[in-house]
Amino acid sequence: VIEIHHIEGPEAFPRGVDRASFVDFLHTNLGNWGDPPDEIDLAVNYAFSRDPGRGGFLLAACEGEQLAGAVVMNHTGMQRYVPEYLLVYIAVGDGFRNRGIGRQLVGAAIERCGGSVALHCEPDNPAMRLYQRLGFQVKYAELRWRRPGG
Ligand SMILES: CC(C)(COP(=O)(O)OP(=O)(O)OC[C@H]1O[C@@H](n2cnc3c(N)ncnc32)[C@H](O)[C@@H]1OP(=O)(O)O)[C@@H](O)C(=O)NCCC(=O)NCCS
Repeated sequence: VIEIHHIEGPEAFPRGVDRASFVDFLHTNLGNWGDPPDEIDLAVNYAFSRDPGRGGFLLAACEGEQLAGAVVMNHTGMQRYVPEYLLVYIAVGDGFRNRGIGRQLVGAAIERCGGSVALHCEPDNPAMRLYQRLGFQVKYAELRWRRPGG
């Protein structure tokens, strides 16, 4: 049985999971689509912020005390002009994939986010299909600029 836990602060991790294991789980299971653990931890830190316009939440899908899936949501504070939340990271553990946990997690994230969510997904990531089936639409191409060498 999979249970989805909603985590709004550092004290709210379910039994068997803590901040370090949550970050490590994401780092391991994001694979090619991941970031270094210290960057993932920054998104967790942001989610726990109490500053106005910041914050967010985490979701942990657990089978007993074992982490099966994880989500990090960050609140943008820009809801009048861009989506209110960013789904920053989502991953399901290797042994738990293709059982509908990813779909359940995205559904639970959408339910808790007041109406609008944006996420980034590489066009060749199979997760794209999952998002589109759940009603996400490709709205804009994302362009980025970086100072040369920066
Ligand atoms: C993307 C990811 C989170 C999806 O998690 P998941 O739990 O496997 O997702 P689901 O099981 O809900 O859906 C995956 C597939 O299983 C199928 N499925 C859903 N429920 C099912 C069930 N009960 N039985 C069998 N198959 C099922 C879905 O139809 C879907 O098929 P598709 O390949 O045609 O889309 C997971 O693959 C992952 O962690 N990937 C690596 C990290 C990543 O890419 N993150 C996203 C970055 S943008």
